[in-house]
Amino acid sequence: MVVIDRVDVLDETVARLNGWDRGFPHTKSKTSETNWSDAVDLPEPSESQRNFWEVQRLRRSVHGYQKHPIPLADAVAVCEAAHDPDAETEILLVVRDVKGVEPGLYAYDGERLGLLEAVPADSTRREEWFLQREFAAAPAVLVLVSSVAACGGSMHAYRQMMVHVGEQCQDAALAAVGVGLGGVIFAGLLMVGLLDLGIDGFQRTGVVGYAFGYPLDAQRQ
Ligand SMILES: Cc1cc2nc3c(=O)[nH]c(=O)nc-3n(C[C@H](O)[C@H](O)[C@H](O)COP(=O)(O)O)c2cc1C
Repeated sequence: MVVIDRVDVLDETVARLNGWDRGFPHTKSKTSETNWSDAVDLPEPSESQRNFWEVQRLRRSVHGYQKHPIPLADAVAVCEAAHDPDAETEILLVVRDVKGVEPGLYAYDGERLGLLEAVPADSTRREEWFLQREFAAAPAVLVLVSSVAACGGSMHAYRQMMVHVGEQCQDAALAAVGVGLGGVIFAGLLMVGLLDLGIDGFQRTGVVGYAFGYPLDAQRQ
């Protein structure tokens, strides 16, 4: 008797409908071509100034940011909190206003910040990447990229990947609050922006983003 594995059938159908079985035309991510020899010198990540309970009490989404540049060590603390060497996740940082760092798109590998593309602070290209304008205006945006291909066609693995990347993003958001910043978790860069970077939605896919900076309303506290 042939036993049909409903999970496999479902996985295959979903993969076909989404084109995951074929992938997309651009399969090579530019992030694998990062020129690390030009990497930005990174300070040690800032230490949290707040304990766990303070962070939990204070955390809320922040959509408006002061026009102050954020210290690089704070941005490193946010990237480092998201970093998991055992995960497929790739960490991108869209820099608009971070002290000592040219505006642009960077990759972070746990030790280095390598420039992928210089993007002037007010370029329309930056705005095209985001669904909401406040994210383009944020001093920095973390974008977590993972792989649908690495899930091997299993929807269970896909769910686990999404949950794990979500945890990495939450860790980054809590680290930001710890160092006195605030931000908002959102859907990440639009696919049109990621395609430009060679992130095809299959081999590498943008999962989630975190826009951050000094909260605007902190000025009134
Ligand atoms: C995975 C995920 C994606 C989200 N995407 C967006 C988004 O694209 N735009 C947005 O304004 N809020 C988005 N949110 C909601 C905000 O992060 C935030 O949770 C919401 O504004 C509620 O605020 P609070 O977290 O302070 O309760 C998303 C949240 C999650 C967890």
